[in-house]
Amino acid sequence: MPIVFESRDGSTTVLSEKFGVTYHSKYGAVQESRHVYIKEGLFAKCIAKKELSILEMGFGTGLNALMTCLEAEKLELKINYTAIEKYPIPNEIVGQLNFMKILEVEGRDDLLCRMHRAEWEKQVEISDFFSLKKLEQAVEDIAFQQGFDLVYFDAFTPNVQPELWELPMLTKMYDALLPTGILVTYCAKGSFKRALKEIGFKVETLKGPPGKREMTRAVKP
Ligand SMILES: C[S@@+](CC[C@H](N)C(=O)[O-])C[C@H]1O[C@@H](n2cnc3c(N)ncnc32)[C@H](O)[C@@H]1O
Repeated sequence: MPIVFESRDGSTTVLSEKFGVTYHSKYGAVQESRHVYIKEGLFAKCIAKKELSILEMGFGTGLNALMTCLEAEKLELKINYTAIEKYPIPNEIVGQLNFMKILEVEGRDDLLCRMHRAEWEKQVEISDFFSLKKLEQAVEDIAFQQGFDLVYFDAFTPNVQPELWELPMLTKMYDALLPTGILVTYCAKGSFKRALKEIGFKVETLKGPPGKREMTRAVKP
């Protein structure tokens, strides 16, 4: 059973017993999501757009999806969000997550629960601006069509899931992206960035969230 605990910014995260690692940075789950995926991903890609397609590798607690949904409403940007998850977290764990409290979102207490309750493999309208399709599958087994503006690549660290950070999986992500599409991730490991370059991505090393030196943004030409 996964274990919930508080990261240093007060937001909860989860320790995976299966992989022995946490779902987010221990320095701050909300801080990490906001910096890596929202600021350096969504904000970099949403300029002059009315609609955006996002692919998330690793739905996990739903934190990235939740923060993206809240931003979509503020930006009045229609987001079609596809999230892959091989090992969904149990409902008891979802009930212990404090993201709504930390984000101080008035009157939207059920938003995260609605995302977790959304039927798998179906497109579900979570709000006027956010449509969610969760796929309960291993990413290795999915053949994507090219069609995404942005990939949130949020697999567990290469130390425990090396195969997800190597050429075959990253080529799959490249092929899923539209031209000028962006992949963002918390990871800045050298071998990972070399693999991205070999595939044809233009790779940027950016300042990481508090507590982490660097992160990566890769752009498909
Ligand atoms: C770092 S966590 C993701 C955190 C998540 N984005 C969030 O906001 O909470 C990595 C996620 O990838 C999932 N995962 C691991 N291996 C997978 C695979 N082969 N296919 C699909 N999902 C996988 C894990 O179960 C976990 O939920």
